[in-house]
Amino acid sequence: MSRVIPFIEDREKVCALAPIAYAPIRHHVFVCNGKSCTAVGSAEVKEALTRELLSRGLLFGKESKGSNPKGSVVLSDCSSVGFCAVGAAVLVYPDGIWYAQVQASDVPEIVEEHLINGRIVERLALLRVPAAEKSLL
Ligand code: FES
Repeated sequence: MSRVIPFIEDREKVCALAPIAYAPIRHHVFVCNGKSCTAVGSAEVKEALTRELLSRGLLFGKESKGSNPKGSVVLSDCSSVGFCAVGAAVLVYPDGIWYAQVQASDVPEIVEEHLINGRIVERLALLRVPAAEKSLL
């Protein structure tokens, strides 16, 4: 039997329990940790993203863990998104850009070009969500 969780009506109380609600988040980046992406280095891609974002003070998170409570990027794992044959998959929102064949060595370019300068790394981008008629960029 599932536990009944009381709904918190007080918005300030909800936000106080989730400090990210006050953070200046600009991007949410997902790295696929499915089996196929893992086999081609998605863990290394995520490590490289963590390092790069930490060094630039962009990674949202707790100060006690070296992250920035005012960071603008949230980094998450995700499970398979269907790029299994062309991993590692990295998804950037709110832009809806899905990168394929990402390697750890591509990370500085993705951070500098896309996350900081707002320019999509075309050579790695395979899909934009919502998809256009032909689904390709
Ligand atoms: S395992 Fe990453 S897209 Fe399928």
